[in-house]
Amino acid sequence: MTIGLSGGDLAAALRQGLPHDAVLENPASIDAYRFDQARLCPAGVPLTVVTPRTTEQVQHVLRTASARGVPVVPQGARTGLSGAANALDGCIVVSMTRMDRILSIDAVDHVAVVQPGVVNADLSRAVLAQGLFYPPDPSSWELSTVGGNVATNAGGLCCVKYGVTGDFVRALELVLPGGEVLRTGRRTAKGVAGYDLTRLVVGSEGTLGVITEVTVALRPAPEPSLTIAAVFPDAASAMTAVAAIMSSGVQPAMLEFLDGTTIRALQQYRDLGLPAGAGALVLARSDRGELASADVARMGASCRAAGAIEVAEAGDAAESEMLMEARRLVTAALENLGVALFEDVAVPRARLVELVAGVEQIAAEHRLVIACTGHAGDGNMHPVIIAPRGDAAAAERARSAFEAVMRLGLSLGGTITGEHGVGLLKRQALAQELGPLGIALQRQIKSVFDPAGLMNPGKVLPGLDPAGQDGVT
Ligand code: LAC
Ligand code: ZN
Repeated sequence: MTIGLSGGDLAAALRQGLPHDAVLENPASIDAYRFDQARLCPAGVPLTVVTPRTTEQVQHVLRTASARGVPVVPQGARTGLSGAANALDGCIVVSMTRMDRILSIDAVDHVAVVQPGVVNADLSRAVLAQGLFYPPDPSSWELSTVGGNVATNAGGLCCVKYGVTGDFVRALELVLPGGEVLRTGRRTAKGVAGYDLTRLVVGSEGTLGVITEVTVALRPAPEPSLTIAAVFPDAASAMTAVAAIMSSGVQPAMLEFLDGTTIRALQQYRDLGLPAGAGALVLARSDRGELASADVARMGASCRAAGAIEVAEAGDAAESEMLMEARRLVTAALENLGVALFEDVAVPRARLVELVAGVEQIAAEHRLVIACTGHAGDGNMHPVIIAPRGDAAAAERARSAFEAVMRLGLSLGGTITGEHGVGLLKRQALAQELGPLGIALQRQIKSVFDPAGLMNPGKVLPGLDPAGQDGVT
């Protein structure tokens, strides 16, 4: 497809519609754009990286790519955990991080219109300053972009109450592979005109087009919150508490689980005052202002009834934020232990105890440490497989354990991915989850948007591997 095309020719063609400095050719600069945060996942070497600032520039890139048959890989901040943003050999990487403006915030309609490169936390803070709230809050929120969040339908900590990114996307602007601009959705809260292409593009991981504008729904800012941390002797009693809380009528704004391995890794990473000897920890929050105190009392009671050794309430907002921050540090803390492969299976909440037990068994069978943490309130867990660095045999066992955890999730009536997406890592498992008819229809949908197969080829759908991924990790 790209045989005979040099990076230089392509760069010259791209510069006809892009500023000179928006086309990167230097191998060292290009190298920085090869990988997202997925470990043990191959990436190729791009011919060039472009950093457009306008929709018209993105159109020019996609027209140029399409005329020359060059694959295109869109990227946000590359914080993804499934390899969806990894470069392919001979591709153009389109980094959207320079389209980073908040275009408008509307306090009447409760929407914001943003360019895709806006960092999640920047949007959250900007709307909060106007008394509004953008709830989707992946742990990467200080780095990850709204466009990347939309492309992966990212989740986060407060989804248990408010829902995931896709629940807040009203409308999109998308440049299609040939360079045409598609506008999907609407600004209004209601709207049922035609098939829901917005929802189709959400979570499509850059395989249908390049997102150039996002209209997100907002809510009124939440009331002050209260958080509790409940210490358990083991994971099973903690998960029993999660089920009890979710059936008690209380609506937590966060309900997170950390196992003993994760707690120790966090404490080792930074002294956060966590109970290093604990078997498991549950963090629960209510953000209902004056009612929060009654909510956390009820959640605390559920924890004690399930066997909590101790239930501590955060003294004030700062202490509450610290617990949240500790939870967000989990990725960094576990990466400190070795090569960390993050799973994100989601199962019905009543099956969480079985999930944790099954993961322990997989860890033993594969002679690996698997930490377990995650959004227990959503049934969305992160078993994190740790392989010692530089140990090829352990890396192989980690890959096999990764597949086993996804099979376990499916066998418990769940899904292989609750929030990180399929990317490169979960394509085979996707076929197991969707079945042949589901996969065939998804392929047809992909080809309607991208008949030449140039948009992030080989990602998400199994069996469409482009040549030339070098297996580098
Ligand atoms: C988290 C990421 C790994 O929950 O999804 O921290
Ligand atoms: Zn998560």
